[in-house]
Amino acid sequence: MEITGEKLKSGISVIKNAVEKDSSISIPNFRDSGKGLTELTTEHFSSVVAGIKKGKVFTPFDFHKMFQGKFVTPGEFYILVQTQNITHIVNPQLGHELLQNPKTMQTIDKLAKALRQADGTYRFSHPVDKPGATFVGTSEINLPKLEFHNGVSELAVHKKLGTGVFGNAYEVSIGDKKYALKVFTDPNRVDVNGAIGEISYQLSMTNKGISNKTELYAANAKNGWMLTELSNKEHYDLSQRGKRTISEYLGDVGLNCDDLCGPNTEKGLVVDIGGIYGEIGKTKVLSEFQDKYKNPYTSMTAGRDALTEKQFMECFHHPESRAQVARATRNMADSELRYKLLDKALNYKESAATAIFETPEAHSDMRFHLYKKALTIPESRIEAAKIIDSINEKNRYQAFLEAWRFPECRPMLGKSVHTFTQPKQQDQIFNLIINSNDPGAKLSCLSIKQGNGDGLTGAEQVLKDVSLRQYFEGHGLHLKGNG
Ligand SMILES: Nc1ncnc2c1ncn2[C@@H]1O[C@H](COP(=O)(O)OP(=O)(O)OP(=O)(O)O)[C@@H](O)[C@H]1O
Ligand SMILES: [Mg+2]
Repeated sequence: MEITGEKLKSGISVIKNAVEKDSSISIPNFRDSGKGLTELTTEHFSSVVAGIKKGKVFTPFDFHKMFQGKFVTPGEFYILVQTQNITHIVNPQLGHELLQNPKTMQTIDKLAKALRQADGTYRFSHPVDKPGATFVGTSEINLPKLEFHNGVSELAVHKKLGTGVFGNAYEVSIGDKKYALKVFTDPNRVDVNGAIGEISYQLSMTNKGISNKTELYAANAKNGWMLTELSNKEHYDLSQRGKRTISEYLGDVGLNCDDLCGPNTEKGLVVDIGGIYGEIGKTKVLSEFQDKYKNPYTSMTAGRDALTEKQFMECFHHPESRAQVARATRNMADSELRYKLLDKALNYKESAATAIFETPEAHSDMRFHLYKKALTIPESRIEAAKIIDSINEKNRYQAFLEAWRFPECRPMLGKSVHTFTQPKQQDQIFNLIINSNDPGAKLSCLSIKQGNGDGLTGAEQVLKDVSLRQYFEGHGLHLKGNG
């Protein structure tokens, strides 16, 4: 169903009416009952469900009504997203009218998908022995300024703002307004970092008089992107923006965050709000560990504290914990157990991508098996292609061919040429990519060649430009002009 600005407004008024009649089973009541999040069902969200179904977009207003203004954990938000099929989120108080047009939101969905597939980072770097060379594989594709027609308004990607473990941020504009677009690497990750966590934190903290948070304009909780205020990295008069800082707010609700990141966090805006957590406490006693799941604040990071095999297994019963298992196994001495846990983490969409991301740290014999399994799973496929450089060279060519079967892996594979040490094999792979009909692979392969200081021939430069246009067109995004 299409939602126009008017329909959106009427959707919001339906929500308002629906929430007037408060449901008898509210989420805060549920919290007090001491049950685990896995028992949270559609019923608990019933007070605003009618409104969401009508309008199909979700607003911070719905969110606060549903949770009675309380801080919402990623696990709770995830269940809401799953049971209510929430995708697009718009902040109607701030969202430019264009953002309230579903076409704009769908265009950002396409853009996020295209950027996620082509502009990812390899897990390990390979220094190249050439003056001025960058790290092979780790290089991003160095996108030029992109201007699209989206049938609604001009959408442009101006530059990349930065790279992190959980996503890449871009400076974008829609019409004449600039924003920061964070494209999350793993949209399915449910954790205190990543799409679900960071979108829920943004929603929890919207309209709470917080002075140093970038404003949330829009997001997609399923496709994993967030459009926020662009920080200009300069001094902001925070007293004009709100009464308390993020840390003060979190302190009031009994939470911590040591991961707040801002180019100038003292005076400026916090641009990265990942890593909020409750009390931390490791225990070897299983029942004490299980008790963490009775409280949504302690269940937020329970998976990070797992110590024993039984505790790790317990984590898999809780979707909000699954994505934390892989990382928590990093220092495990028992490599067989580690393999078993990473293998199991691949079975769940919340943890599949993070499991393969952690795989290069695991014993080398295990990698190829996990890599092949990860390729069969849509949620971990792109991340698998990013660890090809950690696959033993004896298996790497086969690993390349296995991943090549999946079009969404090809742009990442386009970067792999220099991870092969034999010049003959490099040529073979380079030619395979350049003669293929995959524009994303050609674009990334030639961008990396250029980035490494190898230079491009005139024909290669033309091919790169054509591939760029074709790649985005393949994602339904039409570049302006002929360039
Ligand atoms: N709203 C914004 N305005 C300006 N720059 C931004 C904005 N959001 C992100 N950036 C830039 O992009 C970088 C990466 O974004 P971010 O820190 O959110 O990613 P991350 O994956 O969560 O990183 P980390 O691995 O450090 O947790 C930031 O360090 C910052 O330089
Ligand atoms: Mg972060």
